Amino acid sequence: MKDYLKIAVIGAGSSYTPELIEGLLKRKHELPIGELWLVDIEEGKEKVEIIAGLTRRMIAREGLDIKVEVTLDRKPALKDADFVCSQFRAGCLEGRIRDERISLKYGMIGQETNGLGGFANACRTIPITLEICREMEELCPEAWLLNFTNPSGMVTEAILRHTKVKAVGLCNVPVIMQKGVAKLLDTEEQDVIMQVAGLNHFIWARQILHEGQDKLKHIVSEILSGKDYLVPKNIPPFAWPSDLLENMGMIPCAYLRYYYMSEDIMKQELEEADGEGTRGEVVKAMEKRLFDIYKNPEQNEKPRELEKRGGQYYSEAACELMSSIYNDKRTIMHVNTRNNGAIAGLPDDCAVEVSSVITKSGPLPLNVAPFPNDTLCLIQLMKEFESLTVEAAVTGNLNMAKRALILNPIVNTGSILDQALEETVRENLDYMPQFRHLIK
Ligand code: G6P
Repeated sequence: MKDYLKIAVIGAGSSYTPELIEGLLKRKHELPIGELWLVDIEEGKEKVEIIAGLTRRMIAREGLDIKVEVTLDRKPALKDADFVCSQFRAGCLEGRIRDERISLKYGMIGQETNGLGGFANACRTIPITLEICREMEELCPEAWLLNFTNPSGMVTEAILRHTKVKAVGLCNVPVIMQKGVAKLLDTEEQDVIMQVAGLNHFIWARQILHEGQDKLKHIVSEILSGKDYLVPKNIPPFAWPSDLLENMGMIPCAYLRYYYMSEDIMKQELEEADGEGTRGEVVKAMEKRLFDIYKNPEQNEKPRELEKRGGQYYSEAACELMSSIYNDKRTIMHVNTRNNGAIAGLPDDCAVEVSSVITKSGPLPLNVAPFPNDTLCLIQLMKEFESLTVEAAVTGNLNMAKRALILNPIVNTGSILDQALEETVRENLDYMPQFRHLIK
C-alpha cells in the first residue's frame, strides 16, 4: 500500500474547496496525503490563490506536512496522481445563471442539473471532462477520478462510455438524506442502513433499516408532519402532497419535486427570480461573502457560512470514498457507477446512482428490489434523455439534442424549444464549440 498520496483537485477555486480540505484533514489517520495540487483556469486564478492560502493555514492548524501546489496547468497536477477530484463549473456561475434565466424566459424550470439547464450544463462540461480524462489516461492511468462536476450523473455516464478512466460519480444528496433520516430516528448516522437507487438527482430511498426494523414508513410520516430534514439547502422548502408520499412505498429525493410538482416549483422560481434572484444569482452574492472570509489571514478553518450552500457535506462523500478505496473499507456509499444489473430494466453499462459497497477495486453496486412499473418508466425515460444528451454533447448533433430534450418531462417542446435551444447555444458558444455550426 502506498504511504504517500498525491491528490489533484480540478476546479479548486470553488468556494466549496474548504469542505474538501476539512474532510481530508479529518481523515489524516486514514489517508497519508503528501501532495495536494489545486488546479484552476486563468479566470479562477485569484480565487484559487485565496483557497490555497486558507488550505495552507488549515493544514498548519493540524500540524501536518502536506505540500500544496497551485497551478493553471493540469498536466503537472495530474502526473502520477492517485486521486483526482473534479469539481469545476464550465462557464462559471455566469453559465449557471444564464441557464436559469434562459429556461425561465421560455416558461421552463431554471435549474443547473435539470431540464434545459441540465442539458446546457452537460454540453458545456462533457467535452472538457473528456479532455481531462484523456490526460489522465496518459499521465495517471491508475488514478481514481471522483467526479462532482455537475450534472454529475451525465458526466459520469460520458466518462464510463468514452474513456478508460476509473471513475465514480458523487453527489451530496444521498448524504443529506442519510443524515436527515438519522436525525429523525434520533440516532447516529452510521447506525442507519439506507438503500437508494435511481439516477443522479433522481433517486428514491428504497429501504431504511435501523435496529432490525424497516423504518421507511415511519420516516414518511415524519416528513409529512413537516420535518423534512432530507432536503439540500439549494431547494426551496416545500411540502410533498401526502397522498403521493403515503402511497409510494419509497422516499423520493428532493430533486424529484421538479418532476412530481413542476407547476408549483415553476411558480416559486419565477417569484424568486423577480425577487432576490435565481439560485445562481443568490449564490454569486454568497460566494463573494465567503471569499472575503477565506481571505482573512486569521481564518484557519472552514467557516460555518459554507454550510448554507446546497453542496453541504459533499466532502464527506469524496473523502470517505477515497478512504474506502485506499483502505478497502467496504463501506456502503451511494454513488454513480455502472448499473451491472443493480436496477432491473436499465442497461448494465449505463451510469446509475445506487448504494454500493466501496472496495479497493471500486464500487460493487447492490441489487435493488424491482421498481414499480410507473417509476421504472420514468427512470428509463430520464436515462434515455441522459444518454442522448451525452451523445449530443460529444458529437454536436442537433437532432440528437432535440430528441433528448423532447423526452424530458420539464422541457417545453415545439417552436419554444427551437428558440430556447438556439439562444442556449448562442449564449454559450465559447463552451459549446461542438454546436457552433448551428449559429448562422
Ligand atoms: C446540491 C446538489 C449539488 C449542487 C448544489 C448547489 O446539493 O447536490 O449538485 O451543486 O446543491 O448548491 P448551491 O448552494 O450552489 O445552490
